[in-house]
Amino acid sequence: MITGIGYAVPNKVVTNDDLTHLYETSDEWIYTRTGIRERRVFASDDEAFDLLRQAAEQAVKNAGIDVETLDLIVAATSMPVQFMPSTSCMVQHLLGIKKNVPAFDISVACSGFVYGLDIASAYIKSGMAQNVLLVTIDNCSRYVDWADRRTSILFGDGIGAAVISAGAENDVPVINIKADGHVGDYITMPAAKGNCPFVDQTPTQQICTMKGQDVYKFVANVIPAYITDDILAQNGFAAEDIDYLILHQANQRIIKAVQERLGYDDSKVISNIERLGNTSASSILIALGEAIKDGKIKTPAKAVICGFGAGMCWGGGVINLRPGIFKTENIFQK
Ligand code: UT7
Repeated sequence: MITGIGYAVPNKVVTNDDLTHLYETSDEWIYTRTGIRERRVFASDDEAFDLLRQAAEQAVKNAGIDVETLDLIVAATSMPVQFMPSTSCMVQHLLGIKKNVPAFDISVACSGFVYGLDIASAYIKSGMAQNVLLVTIDNCSRYVDWADRRTSILFGDGIGAAVISAGAENDVPVINIKADGHVGDYITMPAAKGNCPFVDQTPTQQICTMKGQDVYKFVANVIPAYITDDILAQNGFAAEDIDYLILHQANQRIIKAVQERLGYDDSKVISNIERLGNTSASSILIALGEAIKDGKIKTPAKAVICGFGAGMCWGGGVINLRPGIFKTENIFQK
């Protein structure tokens, strides 16, 4: 069960109007196509790591546990602030954890939170762990091509954190994860090359590219039916058993399509894409934390969540939102 969550976003805001100085676009075009008005970007590595520490500490505090009782740290990050040491090891260091608990990163892009939740649940169900800290962080602003108006309009930076702990059997999240590597070319980010003096390579930067229309069609074809059939029906849930829908914040039009399929009114649907854009692995956790803080989500409740993105990978589930998983007195950010 999820016992505590945390999130953090940087202060620096980039509006749609700011983007009009980079290329020909408009607030109206971007908002109509995506639902996004602005996004945030990390100003420095130090800021990113400081916010990562804050979000992780917040999740641990909300869970009401001592950091020394954690037995696993997983970081979901495909656009990391740094590759080595791993982000999960950085978290261990930033939280001052003395025990040599295992820590590793996973790279599943925008599905990072749901894949991480599946891993945490598997460790807990098997008895290999009692308390798992999962963090999500994608430094999207570092890897998007700011000259590419089809891609850079979408992404923003942000951080999420969750503690998953052993508990009542029926309180384990029901998670289902999937991948289709045959359409991997829809979203790509080859590693930078050109540093080896012994081979002939044209130097390249590490930049993310996206075939937006292909991604959109894939998601529109796969995700709505996946949520109703694979997540809800297969696990014995009817749409009306669920209190909230928290989708990966990729595009407001996709959120709307799923909302209509489930027949939910606006009060059940969580969206913050207008202010933060697509924060990749962190988008579900940030949306969840903000909605509890703003009183839009009332706990206890059941939420259906679903992430999707590069790979293509996707995954979702039904999670119980317990009272106290996010307490406003534990918000450290100004
Ligand atoms: O978390 C990862 C998941 N990713 C997603 O969910 C992204 C899914 N895809 C999308 O949301 C949409 O594909 C975008 C919002 C990224 C793009 O919208 P689109 O309707 O698919 O645009 P397009 O790339 O097909 O471009 C249509 C037209 C083109 O003009 P021409 O060639 O038809 O004359 C583009 O050049 O719009 C033009 N265009 C723009 N115009 C103004 C593309 N980007 C822009 C822009 N501003 N930023």
